Amino acid sequence: MFYDTHTHLNADDFKENYDEIIKEANSLNVKYLNIVGFDKNTNFLANQIAKKYENIFASAGLHPTDVNNFDETDLREVENYLKQDITVAVGECGLDYYWHKETRERQIEFFKKQIDLSKKYNKPLIIHVRDAMQDAYDVLYEASKDHKLKGVMHCYSGSSEMANRFVNLGLYISLGGPVTFKNAKEPKEVAKIVPLDRLLIETDCPFLAPHPYRGKQNKPVYVTLVAEEIAALRGLTIEEVGNVTTNNAKRLFNIK
Ligand code: NI
Repeated sequence: MFYDTHTHLNADDFKENYDEIIKEANSLNVKYLNIVGFDKNTNFLANQIAKKYENIFASAGLHPTDVNNFDETDLREVENYLKQDITVAVGECGLDYYWHKETRERQIEFFKKQIDLSKKYNKPLIIHVRDAMQDAYDVLYEASKDHKLKGVMHCYSGSSEMANRFVNLGLYISLGGPVTFKNAKEPKEVAKIVPLDRLLIETDCPFLAPHPYRGKQNKPVYVTLVAEEIAALRGLTIEEVGNVTTNNAKRLFNIK
């Protein structure tokens, strides 16, 4: 059994066919999915789609690349989604200096506010970090001082050393398509060293399709290819990786 912890079936790419994509995933044992929001529209769609299916859950959050378009009203909307059981996480939120270094201050501000919501509603964070690992760590470390953090470093792209530091803050590490890329040294290293009870898998579809579909549209069934690669790296079976990461995700997202 598999749990794709990060999909964007709420993206325009899947507007016409998310129903088929979900059926296909279920038929190939990808039984659980999170649909991750990143702005007003996708938070709404994640909520609407998740409500229609069993074992599909939503998150609501404000993505760092878009912070100039967000205000307090958007945060209040995220908060309203968090009051619903179908919403299992806050995010994606975080820091992204690859696309927008110039909004650094505001990114940090919105990240902190979403960490506060995670604490208030006791729902885990789905954290996006690109080219901002140290700042993200500093913000999370500060926030962990008075309150145990819950969350996942989604599509984690940092070093194995940093991965251990995030694990020590109480966070999970999620790996996606890049771990299957031939020259992906760091993600493969991370896949080997993360404690098995802190590992999650995801697709981040429609982006980042795993090998041999790299560059094509990604979809939840391909999470099995991520599991297959991790299994090979750790000397486990694909079923073992599927089961342990599913149980981890159910624990983190508080799913019975
Ligand atoms: Ni994403």
